[in-house]
Amino acid sequence: MPTTPDDRSLDAGPGPTDGAADAGPAHPTPLRRVLVAYATKHGSAAEICAAIAEELGAAGLEVEVQEAAEVRSLRQVDAVILGSGLYSATWLRDANRFVRVHRTALARLPVWLFSSGPLDRSADFDDIPMTPHVAEAVGTLPIQGHRTFGGRLVPEAPEVAEGIIATHRTGDFRDFDAIRAWSREIAEALG
Ligand SMILES: Cc1cc2nc3c(=O)[nH]c(=O)nc-3n(C[C@H](O)[C@H](O)[C@H](O)COP(=O)(O)O)c2cc1C
Repeated sequence: MPTTPDDRSLDAGPGPTDGAADAGPAHPTPLRRVLVAYATKHGSAAEICAAIAEELGAAGLEVEVQEAAEVRSLRQVDAVILGSGLYSATWLRDANRFVRVHRTALARLPVWLFSSGPLDRSADFDDIPMTPHVAEAVGTLPIQGHRTFGGRLVPEAPEVAEGIIATHRTGDFRDFDAIRAWSREIAEALG
């Protein structure tokens, strides 16, 4: 069923539409409806997005959190935040695909990105730029900003194999104060 101007729900569905069909009008002011999308393997990026959504909601924005793979259209969206866990210095496939499929619509919206990865405290002290693989996926898409946050790898997280735990550093290195502060900056920018 086509989305009408009165349909205020984000258009989730079985698959993405192509970028051209996805392009809505240039964002109106004030910017109100924010999509927070993520790709995750072990749940960490999803929890980061939940914290971001909480802050944006507290700032009065209308927020929807969705798995990147589930987002069908950005027609009803005024701004996008997209994040992914890092694996071999690369975003997960669904995040890369999101950028590829929705590129046309994203180019017309304010977009913020984050990567979550380092299993140490390095992200607390350094402004870690996007990896070359992520930069390649983003390409020339204009973005408002990118942040790298620490990651989390713990045995009790979903889908974590014993072999992974045995061969990687474990712990939760996400700085939720920093994540929430960044979210408030975004809320402020969206005014
Ligand atoms: C197999 C594997 C490879 C990883 N590779 C990287 C990496 O290249 N760079 C990085 O910063 N973190 C890396 N990490 C850490 C993850 O990015 C981190 O655990 C992140 O929080 C996972 O996010 P998710 O739970 O949302 O999937 C790796 C973790 C695993 C298990």
